[in-house]
Amino acid sequence: MLLRMQVPMIFTDRSLFLYLQIILNKYPMKEYKVLFVCLGNICRSPAGEGIFKKLVKEEGLEKYIKVDSAGTSGYHDGELPDHRMHRHGARRGYSFDSLSRKFTARDFDNFDIILAMDDSNYYNIMALATDIESEKKVHRMVDFSRKYVHDHVPDPYYSGADGFELVLDLLEDACQGLLTDIKEGKL
Ligand code: 4NP
Repeated sequence: MLLRMQVPMIFTDRSLFLYLQIILNKYPMKEYKVLFVCLGNICRSPAGEGIFKKLVKEEGLEKYIKVDSAGTSGYHDGELPDHRMHRHGARRGYSFDSLSRKFTARDFDNFDIILAMDDSNYYNIMALATDIESEKKVHRMVDFSRKYVHDHVPDPYYSGADGFELVLDLLEDACQGLLTDIKEGKL
């Protein structure tokens, strides 16, 4: 009875199985490794990483979902997130603290879900894929949006405060959508 009350109304067979795995905590849920990717890996993708990690932690799913970020350029290798991104994130309760690194073809072996912030990132990532399985791992971040209708997460590097706030709004929305899709077995 208790279990029935917690189960959402609409389920595919696979998503019901995944949901029951989590609720019953009996069988290990499939592990997901998620990689957020932008150009410099100092603004958008570390923000996506930090927001998604917080959601995963709040849901008690850290054991099943690993999160990282990278940049297609390598311009800022080894650097902490941009201080403006850090400051705007801190105001919303996040602590973005990952070090920038360049996306490489090896990331296709190490991650299941690769999220591009804009089309330029998307095509730069796809250019490194050598098979269809790798290509299928690559998604546009905004494809998981629920509230906002944006065709990409805009680069805030040369913007003012509004640009950083917009990035956080878009990422909070899309990260929620992404986690819902994972939990429902859609990915
Ligand atoms: P990100 O933003 O791709 O969201 O990390 C940028 C950071 C640095 C540069 C461009 C975009 N840059 O040209 O150095």
